[in-house]
Amino acid sequence: MGRERRKNVRAYQRETNRLRVELEERFDSLLREQDDLADLADLVTARSAANEPFHRWMAYRQGFAPELVRRFLKNSKPESGPVLDPFAGSGTVAIECARAGRTACSIDAMPTLAHSLASRFLREVPAWPDMSMTADMGGLWAAAVHPAHQAAVLLAAARTVDGEGHRRAERLKPAAMVQQILEWMRVDCASPLPPVALVLCADARALPLKPASMGGVLTSPPYLSRYDYARVNEPMERLLGWRTKGALRRTQVRAARNLPTGNAKAPLPEVVAEIEREAATQGGPDRVRTVRGYFSDLARVIDGLADTLQDNAPCWINMAGTDHQRVYIPSDLIVAAIAAERGFRIEGIDIARELRPSGRHLGAMEHVAPRECVIRLRRKRR
Ligand SMILES: C[S@@+](CC[C@H](N)C(=O)[O-])C[C@H]1O[C@@H](n2cnc3c(N)ncnc32)[C@H](O)[C@@H]1O
Repeated sequence: MGRERRKNVRAYQRETNRLRVELEERFDSLLREQDDLADLADLVTARSAANEPFHRWMAYRQGFAPELVRRFLKNSKPESGPVLDPFAGSGTVAIECARAGRTACSIDAMPTLAHSLASRFLREVPAWPDMSMTADMGGLWAAAVHPAHQAAVLLAAARTVDGEGHRRAERLKPAAMVQQILEWMRVDCASPLPPVALVLCADARALPLKPASMGGVLTSPPYLSRYDYARVNEPMERLLGWRTKGALRRTQVRAARNLPTGNAKAPLPEVVAEIEREAATQGGPDRVRTVRGYFSDLARVIDGLADTLQDNAPCWINMAGTDHQRVYIPSDLIVAAIAAERGFRIEGIDIARELRPSGRHLGAMEHVAPRECVIRLRRKRR
């Protein structure tokens, strides 16, 4: 590229990204790779959960590590009041809080997830010796009578798809998979979890909780342009016969392109409009609607968190930016900016990892890539 052309490209990028440059500069001193969270990259994935009691029952690819919950419980004072996770997924927060004797409140829009999380608090797991004649998941489901057996079949069904909801080659036959999960259940329930969790199926954009009732939040909302959770959880849905897929598309945060966009009127930082303008030139109107719908939904969630948290309570949000059709979307910093306007103080934005190498220049910054972060917030005094 000739020097003149390079200068023009830089000038174009500077103008197109002006508000994102300002955002990066605004949060530069808070963005850090912390020493005591040096292994944070492992904490924002669910890999380690496969080896931990209770967590191993469900392989939820979108989850974070139990160790992140332990860090939250250790590092975020005060310790009073329940810990809320409004995007509970497999229930990592509820399980780890229960193991530490702390009450949790877990909410997810998918009824199947609330259902299977409740099963972690079972106290009795009887053997199920006569299942070998039943070859498929449907037959096992029909034969399961005890709640523990039903839970094991549902959790086994959840393993038949990958993180995107696509059917995957099964390593074990259905009955063997169910037996494996039952074995974990029996071993883990030898020391059952204390029943200190409230598990609700609800929409995080309209939290059904009293003001100032929660003592902390640790959560990970859906990331932009990723999963349709109705699809991911369909195998369990099918067994339960609830068939609510259409409705579940509407109750999800609008993070994926195939989800309905609807109205999106929450006031948002100006930088979202800049991203929309760029998305319009790259990807067309549906991309633009996804961006606005997503941040409007997150703004509503953050409003609800500010309302439901006690003064001075900690709030950690695991969040990632993205390159959406080559448009740089620093979702981590946008969420931080929204939170700062809605009753939160930002204590730090800890970088867990960069999601892909990037040659992007933003103002004077080089190689700017989307990051996965833990945003540490604190509810300001009212
Ligand atoms: C990234 S996953 C959370 C994973 C969780 N941290 C774990 O360790 O398993 C996001 C979750 O948000 C849920 N979700 C999406 N939209 C929601 C909404 N509007 N209200 C509540 N939950 C929602 C999805 O069903 C999904 O389980």
